[in-house]
This record gives sequence, structure tokens and C-alpha cells, in this order.
Amino acid sequence: MRRRVRLVLLCFVCGFCSLLYAFSQLSDSLEERESGIKTPRSTAALRSGRRARKGAGSVGLGERRQSSRFKDLSMSNWNPYWMLPSDVCGMNYFWETAFRYSISIKPTEKMHLAVVACGERLEETVTMLKSAIIFSIKCLHFHIFAEDQLHKSFKDILDYWPFPEKFKYTLYPITFPSENALEWKKLFKPCASQRLFLPLILKDVDSLLYVDTDILFLRPVDDIWAFLRKFNSTQIAAMAPEHEEPRIGWYNRFARHPYYGKTGINSGVMLMNMTRMRRKYFKNDMTTAQLRWGELLMPLLKKYKLNITWGDQDLLNIMFFYNPDSLFIFPCQWNYRPDHCIYGSNCQEAEEEGISILHGNRGVYHDDKQPVFRAIYEVLQNHSFGDDLVHSLLHPLEQKLQKTAHTYCGRIHQVFIKRLTKSIKNHYGTRSKGI
Ligand SMILES: *[C@@H]1O[C@H](CO)[C@@H](O)[C@H](O)[C@H]1NC(C)=O
Ligand SMILES: *[C@@H]1O[C@H](CO)[C@@H](O)[C@H](O)[C@H]1NC(C)=O
Ligand SMILES: *[C@@H]1O[C@H](CO)[C@@H](O)[C@H](O)[C@H]1NC(C)=O
Ligand SMILES: *[C@@H]1O[C@H](CO)[C@@H](O)[C@H](O)[C@H]1NC(C)=O
Repeated sequence: MRRRVRLVLLCFVCGFCSLLYAFSQLSDSLEERESGIKTPRSTAALRSGRRARKGAGSVGLGERRQSSRFKDLSMSNWNPYWMLPSDVCGMNYFWETAFRYSISIKPTEKMHLAVVACGERLEETVTMLKSAIIFSIKCLHFHIFAEDQLHKSFKDILDYWPFPEKFKYTLYPITFPSENALEWKKLFKPCASQRLFLPLILKDVDSLLYVDTDILFLRPVDDIWAFLRKFNSTQIAAMAPEHEEPRIGWYNRFARHPYYGKTGINSGVMLMNMTRMRRKYFKNDMTTAQLRWGELLMPLLKKYKLNITWGDQDLLNIMFFYNPDSLFIFPCQWNYRPDHCIYGSNCQEAEEEGISILHGNRGVYHDDKQPVFRAIYEVLQNHSFGDDLVHSLLHPLEQKLQKTAHTYCGRIHQVFIKRLTKSIKNHYGTRSKGI
């Protein structure tokens, strides 16, 4: 009798085990099939679905997403790629999952991105942030400095975005040292000089990528962030040259102040190790003593205010003229501007590797002078998270660019999408493989 009970029990256990095995096989094969579309989206979809019910629709971004969100819900909820470090954009979800599946998480670095938005720059800034999120791998922390009247609009849009586990943001008012606030505000464009004070305001942030609002990332932020590790012991910041071709350079022909290198530097994309900036004593032409960053700015403005044209960028040029060993120069493909193509193509790195970061200065995203720049801006502006990047972004863009071949920049339009195409491929590729 007892033996029979044992036999039955054994059979039961065996049956249970084979059932388990069958299930694990099934789920594996399901995952494999989904691999093409496996992105961190599904958790995000769940989360933002919850949010969507709570929040009010904002700025037309919500509506269109609903359908894709639905589709996402059916996707596998188990994807190792989401096991991003927890401290990062710190979502409980990761702790929960880690706990449930007893996965050990090793915290990695988070990338800090700062932007200063004033006046009519809301839409442009939002499009820049979107392009940063689309391709980036590590977590992002956005530090958004904006005029008070823009704060609510930023909140209404960003709170509604999916991927809360991929980014976090903080809004700050525009502030200047009280004694000279007015003078700093007037310099160049309103608010532009805010960025000079970032090392002093963001005291707890080690490193930071500052970008102008008219920047678009065509490649993961991770890739430019990696330059920080290439700094030698004296370098504290990285920027691209203002020009490749001295014959059309501005500084070498017109500047009435010292500037860095042959053609000066452009400050639209500026990578900083702020720990080092705060520690460094800068050589200068005002006193024999070397000054800290915070002590340097005002005397510099006072001395050069009548001679500078491009505001804070000129001040940076003066600073690094006197401290050239502190600057890391990255190639022009990391800060690609109309100047690189409107008089003929002169950014060789971009021709070889494609454009990594696009900088639409001179307002080219909003007028018809450089249709290539505008087309890229518009497809990214139109893009909703969750849309397929190949069919809803790359293909329409290729079609638009073919119509721009009559312009100087349009003639080399393949340079504009070379890197973007690769980024899109990697986006789907790496994500499906997990970590
Ligand atoms: C920035 O510089 C400090 C001091 O040299 C260093 O400890 C830190 O690791 C650097 N940050 C990055 C991201 O390289
Ligand atoms: C400003 O420009 C004028 C005219 O070029 C020049 O003489 C003067 O030395 C400049 N001032 C400084 C502080 O460089
Ligand atoms: C770091 O690189 C800069 C730029 O190439 C150079 O001027 C400087 O001397 C280097 N510093 C050291 C310590 O090698
Ligand atoms: C973006 O959307 C608008 C309105 O739906 C459309 O007119 C425009 O052609 C789109 N632009 C691109 C580049 O897809």
C-alpha cells in the first residue's frame, strides 16, 4: 500500500517537472520571436498606461501613443535589458524584479544632460530631449534650466513620456549671481550665459553634457559621454572647433579678443568634468594669481564686454586660450552645423562616419534655407515613442532628403543619415540581445 502511494507521488513529481520544462521551453521560444521588438517599452507601457489614466492629455503627444501602448502590453514582461541599475533613474520596479528573480544589480553611472531654455524654445528643447532618449543606453538625468513660465509645459510633457526608468529630470529657474544679474542676462541671447554657472549651481554633479536647445542626437548620448574617460590629467572640458576651414572662420577673421586654437571653439555641445572645473586654478590675463572658475567669470566679462560678439562662447574661448592644456577637442561630427556644408562639405569625419550630433544653429530647423536640417528636425518632432524607427522615421526622412539635392547640404544628404541608420540598427539589435 505504502509503496503504491510512493509510486504515485514519484509519478506526480516527474510529471510536474516535465511540465515545468515544457513551460520554460515555450517561454524561451516566445522571447526569441519577440526579440526583434524587445525594448524596455513594455514596462514603460504599463507604467505610462497607469499614468495616462491619471494625467490629462498634454500637447498632443498622448493620443497617438495609446494604440501602440496597447500593442506593447501584450509583449513579454521579462526582459533582462530593463535590469538597469536601480539607483539610477531609481524606479521601484527594478528592485521588485531584482528581488523576485534574485538578480544582482551593479549600479552604473548615470549621464547628466543640461540645457537652458528661454523664450520660444520649448518645442525645440523637447525634441532634443526626445532624441537623447531614443538611442541612449545608460540612464539620463536632464537638468533643465528654464524661465518660470515654461516650467509647467515641460512638466506636462515629460511626466507623460514612457520609459520613466530611463530618464529623470529636474527643472531649475534661471539664476545669476545677484550683484550682476542684469549684466549676465543681457549678454548675447537672454539666458545663454546661464551655462557658465552650471559648475557652481550643480555642485553635486561630477560630469555634465551641456547642449544648446537646437541640438539633435543621432547617436546614443553614451558615445559622447565616453570621451570623459579619454581626458588626460589636465583636461576639464571638451568641445568641437568653431570651423574646419580657416578661410570661412569667424574668430580668425573678426574676433577682437583671444580665442582657442586656429578657428576658436563652438560651445553648443560642451562636455564637462565639473569636479575638475571647480578645483582648477585658471591662468588669465587679469591678475598674476590664478583664479577659480567662480572668481574668473565676472572680471572676464568686465574686461571683454565691449569686444565680444557671441557672449558666453567668446568668454570660453578666452578662458581656454589661456589654458589650452585643459581642453579636449572632439571632431566636427559631434557638433555638425550648417557651416560644415553650406559652402561645400568641410567636415571630413562626418563624411567618413556620418553625423553623430546635429546642431541646427542660425534657426535652420524653422526656415527653408537648409531643408536637410529642417527635415531631420521634423521627423524627430513628429516621432512618438513606440513608433517603428525604420518605417516611421528613417524611410520618410530618406524620401524627404532626396528632394533636397539642389542645396549644398542636400548634395551630401547621405552624410546626414549614415550614422542615424546605424543607430537605429543598433537600437533594435542590442536591445533584443539583452545585456
Ligand atoms: C572627473 O574628474 C574627477 C577628478 O579627477 C574624477 O575623480 C572623476 O572620475 C572624473 N569623472 C569622470 C566621469 O571621468
Ligand atoms: C578690444 O578691441 C579693440 C579694437 O580692436 C582693441 O584695441 C582692444 O585691445 C580690445 N580689448 C581687449 C580687452 O582685448
Ligand atoms: C592633455 O592634452 C592636451 C591637449 O592635447 C595637452 O595640451 C596637455 O599637455 C595634455 N596634458 C598632459 C598632462 O599630458
Ligand atoms: C510632420 O507632421 C506634419 C503634420 O502631420 C506633416 O505635415 C509633416 O510633413 C511631417 N513631417 C515629416 C518630416 O514627416
